[in-house]
Amino acid sequence: MRIAMIGTGYVGLVSGACFSDFGHQVVCVDKDADKIAALHKGVMPIYEPGLEALVEHNVRGGRLTFTTELAEAVAGADAIFIAVGTPSRRGDGHADLSYVHAAAREIATALTGPAVVVTKSTVPVGTGDEVERLIRETAPEAQVSVASNPEFLREGAAINDFKHPDRIVVGVEDDHARDVLEAIYRPLNLNKAPLLFTTRRTAEVIKYAANAFLATKITFINEMADLCEVVGADVQSVSRGIGLDNRIGPKFLHAGPGYGGSCFPKDTLALLKTAEDVQVPLRIVESVVKVNDARKRAMGRKVIKAMNGDVRGKTIALLGLTFKPNTDDMRDSPSISIVQALQDEGARVRAYDPEGVEQAKLVLENVEFCEDPYVAAEGADSLVIVTEWDQFRALDLSRMADILNQPILVDLRNIYSGEEAAQAGLRYVGVGQPSITA
Ligand SMILES: NC(=O)c1ccc[n+]([C@@H]2O[C@H](COP(=O)([O-])OP(=O)(O)OC[C@H]3O[C@@H](n4cnc5c(N)ncnc54)[C@H](O)[C@@H]3O)[C@@H](O)[C@H]2O)c1
Repeated sequence: MRIAMIGTGYVGLVSGACFSDFGHQVVCVDKDADKIAALHKGVMPIYEPGLEALVEHNVRGGRLTFTTELAEAVAGADAIFIAVGTPSRRGDGHADLSYVHAAAREIATALTGPAVVVTKSTVPVGTGDEVERLIRETAPEAQVSVASNPEFLREGAAINDFKHPDRIVVGVEDDHARDVLEAIYRPLNLNKAPLLFTTRRTAEVIKYAANAFLATKITFINEMADLCEVVGADVQSVSRGIGLDNRIGPKFLHAGPGYGGSCFPKDTLALLKTAEDVQVPLRIVESVVKVNDARKRAMGRKVIKAMNGDVRGKTIALLGLTFKPNTDDMRDSPSISIVQALQDEGARVRAYDPEGVEQAKLVLENVEFCEDPYVAAEGADSLVIVTEWDQFRALDLSRMADILNQPILVDLRNIYSGEEAAQAGLRYVGVGQPSITA
């Protein structure tokens, strides 16, 4: 199959590279000329494990190319995927569909033959109808089907997720679109990935329902963590105790500083806006959004409380800034609210992140970035683990206790146990568990 991928960001680049690895002929398009120039030189615009090798392999095999010229990619393509951003619209929280609509219009002017236009971006229900209308308005003669194929990959594990998905959801309105998408995903039959065909609108709803449900699970366990702290229980054992129940499952039950990233915050908000427009209250999702927003800043207060309520003039070392490990993505990361809350109370912040510093510099002010966790901790009055990168799992805690001004460890990801921290001479504050003093 000949595929054009419009938008070469996290989703477009990973999807394009994986489709080419399946043997399809893929052209990835982006408006950002610097991004395309970098890709031509083999430089990845994002940090994603395994991506560089996958791209290089398929470029060398002649199956994957990059361009800024949308028309060049669309001409002769069997399928054209739209994978542009759908950020929160400033002011009202609706999904900003301007990039999707602009891409649809551009595609329409460039179509040369029969093609399936597939929306991979996360878009509110009804967007496929509008994409189809825009294309037909611009190119009334075009033989085109419009389908929805939401993407469920997770940053940090994107390639594996794309190649071994739990399911592939495809929303179609005609047999041609169904046949083309079936052919594109046929290589995944080997992995027994269920291909779920629905209508276009249903596929659009599935993506938001999935993200809202996962955000709810995280928020649920975070509130249980708050309860555990007050009643003297341990949320990690609660997670295990409920997660072993097959009806509940163990995933997304890790208490922490609240969800962030490029998807859950904006998608839960956009879902609420859709629901508001059609006057269907989604009260559970409403609560999830409110609770999570409040939580990120509350984590700053948690650190302040661990330092006896006063951080003015104190230095706090943060480990991990990205919204999760194995990505450089800082979008809506809890670290942003935490840094802000600490700085508002007069603290100085030093930080270390394995891959996110360049992106962090764009969103955090007055933070001193350090080259390793021990340098960050030097002379600091407390150490705070914000993101659970693997390299923070085996820190030399005794060394940390020696180099910190005050031996306080606030572990917002529960990487360590209170006992091991206490043995190393650190006062430990985790999430949803009793604090332990050395
Ligand atoms: N990042 C994730 O983990 C993830 C997971 C699942 C779904 N999604 C969804 O996928 C979509 C894309 O997300 P992302 O994180 O890859 O975004 P991104 O911002 O990383 O990438 C979008 C790219 O599209 C390009 N672009 C915009 N308009 C264009 C046009 N007309 N022609 C060519 N290029 C254009 C931009 O320059 C940018 O490089 C969003 O709707 C998002 O919600 C993201």
